Amino acid sequence: MYARKSEGKELRRGRSLDNRTVSSSFGRGSTTIIFTLKNEVGGLIKALKLFQEKHVNLIHIESRKSKRRNSDFEIFVDCDTGHEQFKELTELLRKHTDIVEISPFDGSALPEDDVLGVPWFPKKISDLDLCANRVLMYGSELDADHPGFKDNIYRKRRQYFSDLAINYKHGEPIPRVDYTAEEVRTWGVVFRELHKLYPSHACREYLKNLPLLTKYCKYSEDNIPQLEDVSHFLKERSGFIIRPVAGYLSPRDFLAGLAFRVFHCTQYVRHSSEPLYTPEPDTCHELLGHVPLLAEPSFAQFSQELGLASLGASDDDVNKLATCYFFTVEFGLCKQDGRLRAYGAGLLSSASELQHALSSSANILPFDPTVTCNQECMITTFQQVYYVADSFEEAKNKMREFAKTLRRPFTIRYDPYTQSVDVLEDTNNINSMVKDIRHELDIVEDALNRLSKKLQSV
Ligand SMILES: [Fe+2]
Repeated sequence: MYARKSEGKELRRGRSLDNRTVSSSFGRGSTTIIFTLKNEVGGLIKALKLFQEKHVNLIHIESRKSKRRNSDFEIFVDCDTGHEQFKELTELLRKHTDIVEISPFDGSALPEDDVLGVPWFPKKISDLDLCANRVLMYGSELDADHPGFKDNIYRKRRQYFSDLAINYKHGEPIPRVDYTAEEVRTWGVVFRELHKLYPSHACREYLKNLPLLTKYCKYSEDNIPQLEDVSHFLKERSGFIIRPVAGYLSPRDFLAGLAFRVFHCTQYVRHSSEPLYTPEPDTCHELLGHVPLLAEPSFAQFSQELGLASLGASDDDVNKLATCYFFTVEFGLCKQDGRLRAYGAGLLSSASELQHALSSSANILPFDPTVTCNQECMITTFQQVYYVADSFEEAKNKMREFAKTLRRPFTIRYDPYTQSVDVLEDTNNINSMVKDIRHELDIVEDALNRLSKKLQSV
């Protein structure tokens, strides 16, 4: 999930985390960390010594009244740091303080790519370990209007999920969770409510894959599927895998995951007091909204292309791609058999918005990335506009054309054998790609020859 807006919703309220505002507030190379101190003597001195220890240069520091939490004060630190130092520092800080926010969340905290002169981006799948923990909110750090804000047991539980995700490294199995009876009940309410609508509202790809998830991943109203099982299932169906995440990721980091067919998923369940409302994506949103479509190869391809277009792109272009992602993968509609159907996960995990989006009161326009990329993403209300595509194929082709218009001085190609990306910027790697394509064409030619011989002999 990424910090574009509150999704997975029965939302009438939510957080506003528009990265257009955020990214303009911070310069490249500077990082802001906001934390609160644990209740101990000399806590601030201990925290500041960590910056010294990691040779992180402090540009600005202030304590300020907290606007969002129970605690009275937050410590706001603006520092100048490289990526490795930043990662080590945040790991240390997390042990000694409660981190409230790390900014910027748009990737500009990372150094520029030395060779390419663009914002750093992961080149291989394991590089996602470097950005998956650069999250906005962690574990028990809930907003004051969060349904679980005053529930210490819930906050402790959220911290548990946060720790699972933060300690996760690429290639490891995703830890299995023993969900409590209360969590399963909450999931059950969401599951039942949405299943009433799916036959008449969900797209055919969703309806095709949902029974497979029941069969292979134990989707049922009284069982919350395990991300590890879902990840294996997706890998076989479309090549996507799941990676647990502790909180909101920046659009840049979230889209980078898609480039490697990695989908960042939360593992916690929304608060039981409001089963049909969540101020942030939870595992109900991921499992019911996203997963059935990620199992569809054409949709997986579409998602990956959005991700590939984002690697090394400017902040402005990442925002455009993130907005297109928002109005497709989260709130997209398609036309099937002359009827509107939903394929966006934000709709397929929200009974009220799902009904609204397919009602006569919704404003619907054809998906056109050049227009959609400028659409305002609504935070606390239903979307003002939904975009409809004829098919994922059509959406993919339009996104492909749109991606060509973005300012990036090179093309990127994904290598599925090594799960890495090749930057096509000189004749050597373009020649190597041509060789690969020739080899693929040889296989096609051989297959056609054999087929025609077979047909002649019949
Ligand atoms: Fe989502």
